[in-house]
Amino acid sequence: MDVGIIGGTGPAGRGLALRLAAAGMSVAIGSRDTARAAGAVGELTGTWSARIAGGLHGVANEEAAAARIVVLATPWDGAVQAASGLAGPLAGKVLVSMANALVREGREMLALIPPRGSVAAAVQAALPRTRVAAAFHHLPARDMGDLDSGLIADVLVCADDPEATAETMSLVERIEGLRPLDAGSLNQAAAIEAFTAVCVTLNMRHHAHSTLKLAGI
Ligand SMILES: NC(=O)c1ccc[n+]([C@@H]2O[C@H](COP(=O)([O-])OP(=O)(O)OC[C@H]3O[C@@H](n4cnc5c(N)ncnc54)[C@H](OP(=O)(O)O)[C@@H]3O)[C@@H](O)[C@H]2O)c1
Repeated sequence: MDVGIIGGTGPAGRGLALRLAAAGMSVAIGSRDTARAAGAVGELTGTWSARIAGGLHGVANEEAAAARIVVLATPWDGAVQAASGLAGPLAGKVLVSMANALVREGREMLALIPPRGSVAAAVQAALPRTRVAAAFHHLPARDMGDLDSGLIADVLVCADDPEATAETMSLVERIEGLRPLDAGSLNQAAAIEAFTAVCVTLNMRHHAHSTLKLAGI
């Protein structure tokens, strides 16, 4: 498999899997329950089979973790535990964390501060032999999961390992309409994750599906 997605059955994981498979990649949608993973693949192929140039496979999270590059797409409060349970297969690999620690309060999303400042940093601390990157935080799952949505966005990528940054940027580049931007070390994940609260609040208040696009770079 080119890409494995841990927690790939949710809207975010599915949307990412669809975009990567449409770009010709072989993608493993991982789950704690292989039947749920197979169901997600069935739904995606049922709608988009004609535009999936690569492949989609429903697998257990353990199998997804064996892919060449792995994305962590569980809710933020399960991310460290889910990744820690896969420390063996994830050793030496690039693991891309896309989790945002957010809580809804009325018509607003608020950012929570996880231990070590970000979900990505907490995962890196738990898995010292894995090269953790952070990316994909600001992409609305609904647009990722609709190949007709005309998605155009910048994706901020950060990591402590330069190769992890480079591999993650290459992954982002595979998806039509996305521009990866090197945003620095994993320290930046705190601000990147927290800023998602602002993005989602804007979308709620303006009934929009906006994405992040930076001018002047
Ligand atoms: N939704 C968005 O628009 C969006 C955009 C960018 C980033 N994100 C981030 O991406 C992540 C996934 O978002 P989502 O909306 O797809 O989330 P979700 O639907 O709540 O969860 C994704 C999947 O994670 C698995 N899961 C749930 N709890 C778990 C736990 N405690 N331990 C291990 N696995 C667990 C479930 O899969 P199984 O039950 O099949 O194992 C679930 O389908 C979140 O951290 C979110 O902040 C979301």
